[in-house]
Amino acid sequence: MKEAFKAVKVTDDVYWVGAIDWSVRDFHGYLTSKGTTYNAFLVLADKVTLIDTAKAEFAGEVLARIASVIDPGRIDYIVSNHSEPDHTGCLRAVIDTVKPEKVFASRMGVKALAAHYRLEGVTQVTDGEELSLGNKTLTFFDTQMCHWPDSMVSYLHEDELLFSQDAFGMHLASYERFDDELEQSVMDCESAKYYANILMPFAKSIKKTLGKLTDSHLPVSLIAPDHGPIWRKNPSRILNDYACWAQQARTNKAVVLYDTMWESTELMARAIGEGLWAGGARTKLIPVRGVHRSDVATELLDAGALVIGAPTINGQLYPSLGDVLSYVRGLKPAGLIGAAFGSFGWSGEATKQIAEFFEHVQIEQVTEPLKVKYVPTDEDLRLCYEMGSKIASRLIEKIQAG
Ligand code: FEO
Repeated sequence: MKEAFKAVKVTDDVYWVGAIDWSVRDFHGYLTSKGTTYNAFLVLADKVTLIDTAKAEFAGEVLARIASVIDPGRIDYIVSNHSEPDHTGCLRAVIDTVKPEKVFASRMGVKALAAHYRLEGVTQVTDGEELSLGNKTLTFFDTQMCHWPDSMVSYLHEDELLFSQDAFGMHLASYERFDDELEQSVMDCESAKYYANILMPFAKSIKKTLGKLTDSHLPVSLIAPDHGPIWRKNPSRILNDYACWAQQARTNKAVVLYDTMWESTELMARAIGEGLWAGGARTKLIPVRGVHRSDVATELLDAGALVIGAPTINGQLYPSLGDVLSYVRGLKPAGLIGAAFGSFGWSGEATKQIAEFFEHVQIEQVTEPLKVKYVPTDEDLRLCYEMGSKIASRLIEKIQAG
């Protein structure tokens, strides 16, 4: 491996020594259709320091990239910003090779590394603590729940470089290592998808992290996350995106999410969509069959309304909707309005179960659930259209009220 995997220079004294995972397609329920990277960074200070590692199976790749710059045995310190196994799976193997003087992690990180890997002797660092690397200095900031309780970021003063662990990342495998080497539209899509699926439930923690960075008045010229490209052209762009997403600002976009058994619920969805559109809502119909739950989550990042339709099967919500609603429930999208609809043959419990979902995630229901037995009549479809119009007008009113 040693001859094939090389480090990539980030600054004069910092190298990317991570791994590219071209084949991963699932990250705890999130469809990673473009793969990902597990970024690790080597700081060539007086005390040579490795920031984060990678998934277990990439130990050889990480060590080979390090060896393309220095003898791995010269590493003095390892900093673990985040204990999730995609960044620590090969930590034990790296420690065994490198034999560092010290390994650093947050208070919760120390506990997590002990629990996951029975790793003892990790040195705890605290929020705002500085670590001298001799000719360079790192400062650590606690960023709890961004993404796990142990999460922290590390700031390298002399290079104005923020090692941000999961924050500001994206799941995108590429040889391009920097934002200015990739299409902006691709990065916009992938960073939004990443935020929606990984960080949406932690908006408060994101705001706190952004506030901490602002209050520190530290200049940030580069942001080096643990996934995807390094932000060097315009790091403020991703900071601004995060500030906006953490506000959970809603737009006039309405998502109609549905599945259908014999096309009746689909017909209702189309009539509701017409009413929404005519009422001024930017409307998107998502037939859930064939659309991955993580793409639905991305659509909810800026949507203002979520209208859900499902048939009932054996007294239950259609299973495809059950999957997506369970996933979305965990992401806790805030500030949406919604309504339920569906066709049924025998008992029609699905709309009641959708209404319960809305109550659980505190989505304001604009109308009573709309149920149609078997096949919608013209009058039923008129009611669907009216339902769409009513939701659109409430949505516009809400957006205008700010
Ligand atoms: Fe990339 Fe929370 O791990």
